[in-house]
Amino acid sequence: MTALLQSIARRLLGPVNRFLRWGFPGDSHPMNHLGSLSIFFSWIVLISGLWLLIFFHTSVNGAFDSLEYLTHEQWYLGGIMRSLHRYASDALIVTILLHIVREFSRDTYRLKRWFSWSTGIPLVWMVFVLGISGYWLVWDELAQYVAITSSELLDAIPIFTNKMAANFLMDSVLSDRFFTLMAFLHLIGLPIFLVFGIWLHVFRLTGPRINPPKSLMAGTLLAMLVLSLLFPAYSQEKANLGLAPQTLELDWFYLHVYPLVEIWSPGWVWVLLTGISLLIFVAPWLPPGKAQQPAIVDLDNCNGCQRCADDCPYGAIEILPRTDGKRYKHEAVVDPDLCASCGICVGACPTATPFRRQAALIPGIDLPQSSAQDLKKAIVEATATKPKVLSFACTGSSELAWLKKNGKAVVEVVCTGQIPPSYLDYVLSRNLSDRVLLTGCGGDCRFRFGMDWTEQRITRQRDPNLRRRVGARRIAMAWSEPWCSVGGLKQQFALLEKQATEAAE
Ligand code: HEM
Ligand code: SF4
Ligand code: SF4
Repeated sequence: MTALLQSIARRLLGPVNRFLRWGFPGDSHPMNHLGSLSIFFSWIVLISGLWLLIFFHTSVNGAFDSLEYLTHEQWYLGGIMRSLHRYASDALIVTILLHIVREFSRDTYRLKRWFSWSTGIPLVWMVFVLGISGYWLVWDELAQYVAITSSELLDAIPIFTNKMAANFLMDSVLSDRFFTLMAFLHLIGLPIFLVFGIWLHVFRLTGPRINPPKSLMAGTLLAMLVLSLLFPAYSQEKANLGLAPQTLELDWFYLHVYPLVEIWSPGWVWVLLTGISLLIFVAPWLPPGKAQQPAIVDLDNCNGCQRCADDCPYGAIEILPRTDGKRYKHEAVVDPDLCASCGICVGACPTATPFRRQAALIPGIDLPQSSAQDLKKAIVEATATKPKVLSFACTGSSELAWLKKNGKAVVEVVCTGQIPPSYLDYVLSRNLSDRVLLTGCGGDCRFRFGMDWTEQRITRQRDPNLRRRVGARRIAMAWSEPWCSVGGLKQQFALLEKQATEAAE
């Protein structure tokens, strides 16, 4: 069932990916930066919100007028800030939704990686409450509707003894205290919780990408500025508790549940919302996924150089004082509860070298289910017929499927980051194959840094790097486009085969 839903999610994301590629080619593709884009939009909301705060009156009578002033009198700055505030808030909902669907479709939320997923749910609630309380502050007819419907929702929770909806029966009952409370929640309380929530969400990840590429920030900000100039955010008619609003323009990003309160009842809406949230919260255990063994350290081969810890995307390795009396000062220690079994640490370990005898090939750190020995054996088998091109492809990638289907020599790896550069040296210097192709999920790397570290090691920007004697032009990389097209791979493969043929002539 989960696999079916994930495949549906991938299919749904396909057209979105293709569409976005138009405006954002290469690494700036928004689908590869949904988490950091959400943070960027939160910044825009915060900064524009600070400007609005300077002019906002936290009183029943002053709130509407102060926003009208900003929108009409100070349209060139206050008006634009207000529109940016609204559009960035809407964009935030879109990126969060896509972020959830994308992480689900890539299966990066189960097993040891449940933490980021489950801590994401409170973030969604916070963002919605922030948005809804923001609409309340405008005190126009939409705010009136939001205030009354929200109160009905809150009154349905048995812990509140005083009925909140009674506050909104007529203007004379409504107090400024509500506005101060709402303003505090919207402007101070919730933003503080949100910042803490985001920190918690990413704190188990090494080097979380919290900033999108500059081109993406500039592009999205520009788009929102244009939108703000063309379609500025306006208030609806001033709230009047004596009159029921006749027509309302709902913000469907934030208020889509509100019509349900009228159609069903507040109680059923709570059942729906808590039910969906709980279901998503426990999704990592429905089912929990096939357990993988964590990486293991072999102290006889570990010199404590720290490269594995630097490269681990999940902060699962600590470098601690030596415990076995060897002359080295430090040793690597893996926390099995954090290890996502990606093998990237093996690719970083200088002792993982295939030039050692097969039986002696026990690196400082290894992945039991796909060991350094297994990798060497797979290379030897795949190159038995001396193929022109030997490919390495990630498990589950469309590239691996294409290479296998077309009978190409390929070695399957958990992640390309698992391949120590010495293995590529081995293939090429021993002429097991003329060219090497590294391919897989790439910019969409399921283990976050597999592509980055592979590229940096091969281009000699990161240790352990490819030895100079290996002609880097004999190695090519073809990473998946975010919509899983193998077009790039086919092109790269054909080019390598042509080069190998020319070199042989
Ligand atoms: C305000 C809302 C959110 C923000 C700002 C946010 C931000 C981020 C960031 C910055 C990352 C790290 C990306 C990287 O460096 O690879 C991330 C990862 C992740 N997020 Fe979110 N996120 C939000 C909501 C959510 C929600 C609602 C969910 C799911 C229910 C979720 C699930 C995940 C998962 C599964 C990962 C990846 C962890 C991994 O690769 O192991 N996030 N998020
Ligand atoms: S396999 Fe290695 S790099 Fe990957 S999470 Fe585990 S310890 Fe970190
Ligand atoms: S990279 Fe290898 S040798 Fe270096 S600390 Fe990690 S396990 Fe030990």
